[in-house]
Amino acid sequence: MKKTLQFLTLIMLVVNTSCHSQQGNKNTKLTTVDFKTEKSYLLLPIEEKANEVRMVVYYKNHKTTSAFYLRLAQNKIDYWVKLDVKNHFGKTISLTFEGVENSSLGIKNIKQSDKFEFEYNETFRPRFHFTPEYGWMNDPNGLVYFEGEYHLFYQYNPYGTMWNNMHWGHAVSTDLTSWTYLPTAIAPDSLGDIFSGSAVIDVKNTAGFGKNAMVAIYTSNGKVQQQSIAYSTDKGRTFTKYAHNPVLPNPEIPDFRDPKVSWNEVSNQWIMALATKQTITFYGSSNLKNWTKLSEFGNEMGAHGGVWECPDLFPLTYRGETKWVLMVSINPGGPNGGSATQYFIGSFNGKEFIADKLPYPLWIDYGRDNYAGVTFSDIDASDGRRIFMGWMSNWDYANNVPTKSFRSAMTVARELSIKNNGEHLILANVPTKEVTNLRGKVEIVADQNINKDIAISDILKKYEGTFEIQMTMKRQNAKIWGFGLTNSIGDYLNFTFDLEQNILKVDRRNSGLKDFNQKFVSEPIAPLVKKDSYNVRLLVDKASAEIFINDGETVLTNIIFPSQWYNTLTFFTTNQSWKAENIKIYQVK
Ligand code: FRU
Repeated sequence: MKKTLQFLTLIMLVVNTSCHSQQGNKNTKLTTVDFKTEKSYLLLPIEEKANEVRMVVYYKNHKTTSAFYLRLAQNKIDYWVKLDVKNHFGKTISLTFEGVENSSLGIKNIKQSDKFEFEYNETFRPRFHFTPEYGWMNDPNGLVYFEGEYHLFYQYNPYGTMWNNMHWGHAVSTDLTSWTYLPTAIAPDSLGDIFSGSAVIDVKNTAGFGKNAMVAIYTSNGKVQQQSIAYSTDKGRTFTKYAHNPVLPNPEIPDFRDPKVSWNEVSNQWIMALATKQTITFYGSSNLKNWTKLSEFGNEMGAHGGVWECPDLFPLTYRGETKWVLMVSINPGGPNGGSATQYFIGSFNGKEFIADKLPYPLWIDYGRDNYAGVTFSDIDASDGRRIFMGWMSNWDYANNVPTKSFRSAMTVARELSIKNNGEHLILANVPTKEVTNLRGKVEIVADQNINKDIAISDILKKYEGTFEIQMTMKRQNAKIWGFGLTNSIGDYLNFTFDLEQNILKVDRRNSGLKDFNQKFVSEPIAPLVKKDSYNVRLLVDKASAEIFINDGETVLTNIIFPSQWYNTLTFFTTNQSWKAENIKIYQVK
């Protein structure tokens, strides 16, 4: 039966496909293939290392076109991507490729199918972190809570596992840990690709799209970057773009993006925090459609090693007082290379942000893999938490990490608070209680007195790369000491507390696969306040390790690709002693 079907598909392809070439502008060869659609999908063969080519899709019956970039296979087929053509049954669709011969492997292998298959459960697919079903993902976008659902939109390429063709992908969750994939929410248009942004619930119907409309505010990335809006009145299931986009045109600033909007009670208006080159510009609006510049922050403040991106501005209560936090991602220029997210703590009077005097730059996470993170808007007042998610990768190597059908995961959802770390105020972050609720069976390990290196072999074996370790590390007189994870072929991930230099180091230089990009091989460092005891929570989920010290005072998130799952827990010291107490290893459901 299967054979016959395959044969029929082939016949249909031949009958319904016509292929011709012509010269395009600037002598670019154009090859057009026509398909009479008989099935749900057109499957396009991709070769990861092939050059990108532009593909224009022309839907003849609708007289509409859209254009994407694809690494159309030239020498071999690594995987397939799909073009959903369900709404065009029986109609002709033309695909025009720039700079591709009609005899090329890629063109010859395009096929129609009702199925789109890929290996979902590949080795480095995490168990409790969000990943796109397939394709490329970067920043979390439009994080918003509405009527019992957390919405996670994200920078998404449905046509490949490398960055391009930015759409807003979409998933929802009722518990911040298990997510349901929904269709792509917002697709590129004549103003450009859909870059990062935010979403709000327009409770007062200020924009006139309807009471409680979900409004997405994003960057249209075309010839220039400008801000656009789209709205949904069906719980985010479908979005309509505002007819008069852009709502904030480009004022001749090339990097002008990533609007994060929130309602401000003090000035009784919407406030947009926007990344403008290496500053954050605040705009105000009464209706989400007309925006006025209010102020600019950031000259000579914090880190400036790269472009500023993805800001977020929000209040937190510290000892009964309202403090405002401004988070700003920066790439490159992170403390350990590449991408990272810095923050400022201060005040916001409805127009202007003024930073407290603190030892900036301060970073929300000193690991190499927590970028472009922002917080959920519209969390119920009865809940009151400030919940954060970041993209668990780094632009230094994100396009090369060794996964196949998808690229990148988000951090776990984390709760933010302001704390004093013994030296100054900081923005602390810990996994939300929903993440803690994922704990399954616990294994209690006897307290360990460490005055020489110890290895507890095979204790991690049964977890197959997904577990949580919690313990208290009592320093005694140790100066350089720590713990690690290792496997039988010698890959290791070490966490070293160095109280000669007051730093915590995460050594992933030999953590597993690393040849995909030299910049991945690194040993990120975080400042560590000298204390006698540290509480540690380490979440490991196949390809990531998130360590939280003293309830989120020091956090490092790093991705890893062990060649074999770590099976052994090690404790080490350079000649003095320390004690590991209350060691618990949790299965994570
Ligand atoms: C951050 C970023 C944003 C931009 C998006 C594009 O990672 O560069 O500034 O909107 O990614 O995908």
